[in-house]
Amino acid sequence: MLPYARQNVSEEDIAAVVAVLRSDFLTQGPAIPHFERSVAERCGARHAVAVSSATAGLHLAGIALGLAPGRSLWTSPNTFVASANCARYCGADVDFVDVEADSGNMAVDALAVKLERAARANRMPTVLVPVHFAGLPCDMAEIAELARAHGVAVVEDAAHALGATYRGGPVGDGRFSECTVLSFHAVKIATTGEGGVILTNRDDLAARLRRLRTHGITREPSELMAPTEGAWGYEQVELGYHYRLTDIQAALGTSQLERLPEFLRRRRELAARYDRLLGGLPVRVPARRPDRESSWHLYPILLERAQGPRGRAEVFAALRAAGIGVNVHYIPVYLQPYYRQLGFKTGDFPGAEARYAATLTLPLYYGLTDSQQDEVVAALGRALCREERVL
Ligand SMILES: Cc1ncc(COP(=O)(O)O)c(C=O)c1O
Repeated sequence: MLPYARQNVSEEDIAAVVAVLRSDFLTQGPAIPHFERSVAERCGARHAVAVSSATAGLHLAGIALGLAPGRSLWTSPNTFVASANCARYCGADVDFVDVEADSGNMAVDALAVKLERAARANRMPTVLVPVHFAGLPCDMAEIAELARAHGVAVVEDAAHALGATYRGGPVGDGRFSECTVLSFHAVKIATTGEGGVILTNRDDLAARLRRLRTHGITREPSELMAPTEGAWGYEQVELGYHYRLTDIQAALGTSQLERLPEFLRRRRELAARYDRLLGGLPVRVPARRPDRESSWHLYPILLERAQGPRGRAEVFAALRAAGIGVNVHYIPVYLQPYYRQLGFKTGDFPGAEARYAATLTLPLYYGLTDSQQDEVVAALGRALCREERVL
């Protein structure tokens, strides 16, 4: 089975990990700040805080920006559950902003309407989490302007978007948000196995995030409530978590980051190739925008005639039977049983539901060969023909 995504680990990556295994520190050692500096430099951010996952990063960002019971976070329904769950961990409420039909990203017009309504009802969210779906950056200038006008903090969920660019700058450089969260999970652009990074330009936020990822403990003299009795001294000044990355993971991450330009080049090449090869089929290829470049974490197409869950399910099953590991991104988060029991229901966000009914993610990863990609397109063509005969 060709997977929809797959890591690529080189001999250099393995050597970097082995070097840490032979060193003095498996965790809390020098590989972590080294990794953090590499990510911060690549993404143009002042600070990078490495954590155990993007989910942990979103949770800590939520705490640091004031999410708590009685407050709320808004995100896209077209995302992985983690983008919303981070608010629930803080005891805050979650709501969603519908998405654009073509890109699957948060729609600026839907956001504007919803913010106006919230302002009238005096129920503004505390945090807004736009998700750069599949690696294509959202309309960040417009989103940031709306959020700023209403006093809402923005956290970019860039789990898919390491290496993406928007209006001449890298995603993560902090032009449009308080912080940006990256994922280094194995299926992402570059990996640490599991892992995440929070990027921010704010010194205060970076210091708080570093403390929160390690139990709320500090050794910084300026943060201590009382003078230390000796060099062993530390204080737990708030309730934090154990969300650290290990040096083993950080070493893999630094080595992978050196390969990022090559990863991105091949992903972009494969995406352009899919666009060409799919030209004759009744599908819509992923949206592009002239002022930004996707990192191409995913290649989600929309089936034009096979609308509806039955038609898509048949195409999906035929491709899986042919050994093509297609996937579906995403079941709208609010349709999950957990969110339904909080009051959400089918029909709440029609844009996300329409996309979900028609979408299919084709395999896309650094190691996918041209001939494997040809195979995917041929199998898709066969599946679409068969599905048309059945309908
Ligand atoms: C959009 C989005 N946000 C957040 C996450 C959570 O990432 P992690 O697995 O690193 O916690 C994912 C994971 O797939 C994701 O796709």
